[in-house]
Amino acid sequence: MTGFYRQHGALVCDGVPLDAIAAAHGTPLYVYSAPTIAERYRAIDRAFDGYPHAIHYALKANSTLAITRLLRSLGSHADANSAGEIDVAMRAGFIPAQIVFTGVGKTNAELVYAIDLGVRSINVESEGEIRRIDRLSRERNVRTRIAIRVNPDVDAKTHPHISTGLKINKFGIPIGDVRALCARAGALPNVEIVGLHAHVGSQITSMEPLAHAARALVDLARELAADGTPIEHLDIGGGLGVSYDGSPVPGARDYANAVLPILRESGLSIVLEPGRHIIAPAGALLTRVVDVKPGGGADAAPDRLFVVMDAGMTELLRPMMYNAFHRIEPVVASGATPIACDVVGPLCESSDTLGKDRMLPGPQVGDLYAVLDAGAYGSVMASNYNRRLLPAEVMVDNGQATLIRRRQTLEDVLALEI
Ligand SMILES: Cc1ncc(COP(=O)(O)O)c(C=O)c1O
Repeated sequence: MTGFYRQHGALVCDGVPLDAIAAAHGTPLYVYSAPTIAERYRAIDRAFDGYPHAIHYALKANSTLAITRLLRSLGSHADANSAGEIDVAMRAGFIPAQIVFTGVGKTNAELVYAIDLGVRSINVESEGEIRRIDRLSRERNVRTRIAIRVNPDVDAKTHPHISTGLKINKFGIPIGDVRALCARAGALPNVEIVGLHAHVGSQITSMEPLAHAARALVDLARELAADGTPIEHLDIGGGLGVSYDGSPVPGARDYANAVLPILRESGLSIVLEPGRHIIAPAGALLTRVVDVKPGGGADAAPDRLFVVMDAGMTELLRPMMYNAFHRIEPVVASGATPIACDVVGPLCESSDTLGKDRMLPGPQVGDLYAVLDAGAYGSVMASNYNRRLLPAEVMVDNGQATLIRRRQTLEDVLALEI
């Protein structure tokens, strides 16, 4: 067993007690399990075994350098969404041919960076972007590889904030426009259309939208080939979800079973851009109770107990941004009777709630809690709101907990200010 589980009643990460890690590094603290990352990466790789594929881990989910390096060592390639993520990928040892560059608003400076490096492909979002890449490439006397991000108008059946494949979303080029666009883009001398790309959303737990997107790409590739624009690869994006509440959800094998038979028809190599599925369950946020107070007023029977943590929306934005559910568990199980609590953060926002109506065993000031499955879109979305400091991060590997990012200091923050 890898990751977060109980040993003699206490939560551990790969056998290392979380209370010892918190005592050594303080809270709020992100803890990651290296074996879990490896296991989940390999599960996807195995599921697509036997068909030409490359896993380009989506750095946006979590790009802490040590995690990025670990994925590279496992054989992953990278999906970068900004010049900053390309830079992190390069620092982690990826070569440009292992990087795809996605993103709905790439600036000229970012495009130039990617063009000069010669990344595997720039996943383009509009005709305007293609024309900018062509012009910038001509100025440099190079030909740049692009993949067309297609908007297939597929309902990913996920939270509206992470649904990206509907025509009302800002992402990609409407599928009906792609053939005409490719005919025009094919005439541009300094771009080469090498791929088609679709990413229809995140935290997808029904395989149907992913299969639908795969079908759309395969059919479009066939039409483009008939039009005289043969392409090299199909990039089916990321999106495979995880279980945040412990209920069963499709895994890597189900994903491959849903999309591979369709993609196989094309004979083209495939690019996968998973983020969340690899890293979410591999991380937990450790946080301590700083206050416990009854709500509802002193003269009335308290209608709820507020458990105020030292972590909130500055450390983990998902509950506030997407109404996302994360399990919140005491690190050391107490025998106390569970009571209904609202687990809240310390910030000056009513939305700063990590979990509503949770049954926690008699929470006391100082108790240590773990917010589970927080590895994806957790630390990368942390902020300095209320002048709070970015949390430290620790990776557990070989029974050893190692600091991989130190806690930010106020000096770090103020160093930017004049
Ligand atoms: C283009 C693209 N690729 C990949 C991903 C990764 O998605 P996920 O973490 O759901 O696998 C995203 C995330 O939104 C994305 O926008």
